[in-house]
Amino acid sequence: MTLPAAPAAYDPALEKIEIELLLEAVYRHYGFDFRSYAYSSLRRRLWKRIHAEGLGTVSALQDRVLHDSETLERLLDDLSVSVTAMFRDPSFYQAFRDHAVPLLRTYPFIRVWHAGCSTGEEVFSMAILLQEEGLYDRARIYATDMNETVLRRARAGIFPLDRMQEYTENYIRAGGRRSFSEYYTAGYGGALFTPGLLRNVVFAQHNLVTDRSFSEFNAILCRNVLIYFDKALQARVHRLFYDSLSTFGVLGLGSKETLRFSKFESCYEQLTAGEKLYRKVR
Ligand SMILES: C[S@@+](CC[C@H](N)C(=O)[O-])C[C@H]1O[C@@H](n2cnc3c(N)ncnc32)[C@H](O)[C@@H]1O
Repeated sequence: MTLPAAPAAYDPALEKIEIELLLEAVYRHYGFDFRSYAYSSLRRRLWKRIHAEGLGTVSALQDRVLHDSETLERLLDDLSVSVTAMFRDPSFYQAFRDHAVPLLRTYPFIRVWHAGCSTGEEVFSMAILLQEEGLYDRARIYATDMNETVLRRARAGIFPLDRMQEYTENYIRAGGRRSFSEYYTAGYGGALFTPGLLRNVVFAQHNLVTDRSFSEFNAILCRNVLIYFDKALQARVHRLFYDSLSTFGVLGLGSKETLRFSKFESCYEQLTAGEKLYRKVR
């Protein structure tokens, strides 16, 4: 995706100071902490918002955000990058079925945490998968995101009809056992997913930067979130996941994310080659 850049004459050193001040201000005034997000992607997204607001400098955005919480909402939407899909990376879900489900089957009760769940597509995907594997009735899925707007959409369970073809193909490639169309009906301006799929799901606002662990889980899925964090923040979040996983618990990351080079690398075993699916072993 090409995002608008800073004007050519903008002094990069000054821009960096202004960005740091803006992030500090957002954190101190609203509590959202973007100070350790990967700089170049953050910078591009800030400029997208600056242009969209009709402003010319980072400092002008700071002024507006501080005095107008609706601008903050728009900025949060830009910075949180909510792109997602059902059964995203189908081979990951197939691997989860083949390698994680047999481990989860051994527990009397299963706690799953989707961290950074966005609008909920992956939560519905997991609910479908666990139901087809006969595990849903003894599972509880905790689905969290820092952005309340995406959580509201997730709770509604209505997804664009024009993506159903793609999701059906993903579902089949992910090892789906039924006909995907059994899980939704057309209505309410989209595809309304069977509300029963949410009966064991708890949605809650949780910020991976500032909030702590809230339970012990048998599986944690945090996919396509860590890529937006700098190395130090990734390390902190790996600590949070390690502390929140039961021994032999399963960790799933996005295809561009890794445990390699993290302090916790040796604490996990990869469950299957080629997929970012790990088991905590020590
Ligand atoms: C690209 S989406 C990924 C959605 C889904 N996990 C997937 O793989 O399709 C990234 C999500 O991470 C959330 N996010 C970003 N920073 C976060 C943080 N500090 N704490 C919790 N969620 C965060 C965003 O709000 C966004 O919904």
